[in-house]
Amino acid sequence: MNVLQINSSIFTDGGQSTRLATDFVERWTQNHPDSQVTVRDFAAEEVPHLSAETFQAFLAKPEERNADQQAAVDYSDRLIAELHAADVVVLGLPMYNFGVPSQLKAYFDHVARAGITFKYTENGPVGLLGKQKVYVLAARGGKYQGTPRDTQTKYVTDFFNFLGITDVEFIYAEGLNMGDTPREQALSDAHKVIDQIAA
Ligand SMILES: Cc1cc2nc3c(=O)[nH]c(=O)nc-3n(C[C@H](O)[C@H](O)[C@H](O)COP(=O)(O)O)c2cc1C
Repeated sequence: MNVLQINSSIFTDGGQSTRLATDFVERWTQNHPDSQVTVRDFAAEEVPHLSAETFQAFLAKPEERNADQQAAVDYSDRLIAELHAADVVVLGLPMYNFGVPSQLKAYFDHVARAGITFKYTENGPVGLLGKQKVYVLAARGGKYQGTPRDTQTKYVTDFFNFLGITDVEFIYAEGLNMGDTPREQALSDAHKVIDQIAA
C-alpha cells in the first residue's frame, strides 16, 4: 500500500498539522506494515507558484517544449505520479488567514492538469484519479468546524473531488491558540481519532 504524506505547515516538522500527519502515518504503518511512505513537505521543498510560463508548458505539445518548459512539466509529472500511485494520502493542513497555505495551493496548481488528472466533457469536468483515500489533519488556532467560516473544508474537498477523489475525511485540531487547556484537549482528542482511524 502506498501512502503519500503531504505537509504544508510553514513550520515544517514543528507545525501542529505536520506533527498530527506524522503521528497518523506512524500509527498507520504500525498497523499496515506493507505501507510504502512518500513524504512531501512544501515548506522544506519550495513548490513554485504557478506562472504563465509553467501553464503554457502544460499546454504545449511535448515536441514543442523548450528545456525550461520540459523541466516544469517534469516536476508536475513527478507530483502527479506520486498522487496517482498513492492508495492513502495524509494531508497536514494548517489554517492561515482563513485559507490553506499558499504552498498547498501551489501544489494543487501543479497536480490539476487537463487530460491527465481531469478532463472536460459535455457534462462538465470529470476527475481521472479516484482510488485514493484522503485523510486531512486540520490544525487551527480558532474554531470553525461546521460553520460557514470553514471554507477550508469545502475547498479542499471540492479540489480532490474535482480530480475524482471522493473519499476525503477530516480530523480536526481546533482552538490551538485559545489557551493551554483547550489546545491540549484538542490535540488529545485528535490523537484519539487518529488512533481509531489508523488502527
Ligand atoms: C500566518 C498565520 C495565520 C493564521 N491564520 C489563522 C486563521 O485565519 N484562523 C485560525 O483559526 N488560526 C490561524 N492561525 C493559527 C494556526 O491555524 C495554528 O497555529 C495552526 O497550528 C497552524 O498549523 P501549523 O502549526 O501546522 O502550521 C494562523 C497562524 C499563522 C502562523
